[in-house]
Amino acid sequence: MTLPTRPLGQTELRLTELGFGAASLGNLNRRIDDATGRAAIDDAIAAGIRFVDTAPFYGRGLSERRVGDALREADRGVVLSTKVGRLLTPDASATAQEARDGFLSPMPFRVEYDYSRDGILRAFEASLHRLGLDRIDMVFVHDIGRKVLGDAHDRHWAELTTGGGFAALESLRDQGAIAAFGLGVNEVEVCLDAIRVAPVDVLLLANRYTLLEQTPLDELFPLCAQRQVSVVAGAPYNSGILATGTRGGGAPFYDYGPAPDAVVARVRRIEAVADDWQVPLAAAALQFPLAHPCVASVLPGIGDPRRLAQTLDLYRHPIPEGFWQALVAEGLLRSDAPVPTTRDEAVRA
Ligand SMILES: NC(=O)c1ccc[n+]([C@@H]2O[C@H](COP(=O)([O-])OP(=O)(O)OC[C@H]3O[C@@H](n4cnc5c(N)ncnc54)[C@H](OP(=O)(O)O)[C@@H]3O)[C@@H](O)[C@H]2O)c1
Repeated sequence: MTLPTRPLGQTELRLTELGFGAASLGNLNRRIDDATGRAAIDDAIAAGIRFVDTAPFYGRGLSERRVGDALREADRGVVLSTKVGRLLTPDASATAQEARDGFLSPMPFRVEYDYSRDGILRAFEASLHRLGLDRIDMVFVHDIGRKVLGDAHDRHWAELTTGGGFAALESLRDQGAIAAFGLGVNEVEVCLDAIRVAPVDVLLLANRYTLLEQTPLDELFPLCAQRQVSVVAGAPYNSGILATGTRGGGAPFYDYGPAPDAVVARVRRIEAVADDWQVPLAAAALQFPLAHPCVASVLPGIGDPRRLAQTLDLYRHPIPEGFWQALVAEGLLRSDAPVPTTRDEAVRA
């Protein structure tokens, strides 16, 4: 059994509409033990999910080790993506209790950014070894962009372009070592830059095409459509607030930090419409990105079997079409955003 799949760009790959975001398995914000993480992936595959995304950055190798262990057991036709741009080097000063970049108990490695040809090829080899797999299907250039790299972005962008980083990925694809490559980022601007200079197949764009924000409709998605570049809509809950809502007590998360007041206020207004239509906020957040024809898969974070089961329910939860129209009428959703239809529901049932 697999969930419905969609083609990825001009490649032979197909992604299930629902993917498994494995940043969680690097202990992002909460500790997951090996057995729980393993059960989450096993259950996901049993439920028909055939796309898993990991990265060296997620627990500094921990997520890749766990994902590799799960996928190595059997060839279960899972499309696997990981990322390049950060090399891990041993760091004796790291302690097991230390949280770094939001990951709890990460492994004892330090991150070094390197987007050059050599850095990308070394990162790719190191990922194969950590995963313990002979194949990675997709490689994303991780977190290139000004938001993460600040002033260093220009230097790293030069590594990718004139320094041969993109060319290295292209040659891996030409040799058949990977089937697809692109960026894995939180920023729209750098996606536009990449499409214009490199033959990318896919963009993993996290946090930017959600119930809260739809800026890719302006320029990015039309360009993706024109160039046949697919989008993986990562972090559909904006890292938390669109799943937890605002009423759970404590500060909801938005883009990996406490949500700003303006975001909380907007989510409260979305929650009010969701209440009127008896729609779970998280179901709307999970299903919304899939309505756009450029989106090949939606990629939420899943860390344990209970969350997986909830996610599958949210993915299939019926949502009346009037709900989306009500959001548009309230100025809470762009009127040019494609919205899910009952036909989509029938395919998922
Ligand atoms: N630069 C990049 O390439 C990039 C950036 C960001 C994300 N990504 C990819 O996208 C994936 C997903 O991103 P993400 O995990 O950061 O963000 P997300 O899926 O938007 O949000 C995950 C957060 O929402 C919570 N949550 C999920 N379902 C919930 C539910 N039903 N009820 C209550 N809370 C719920 C999770 O809590 P629990 O932890 O308690 O389950 C977690 O705190 C990542 O794993 C990664 O694969 C890539």
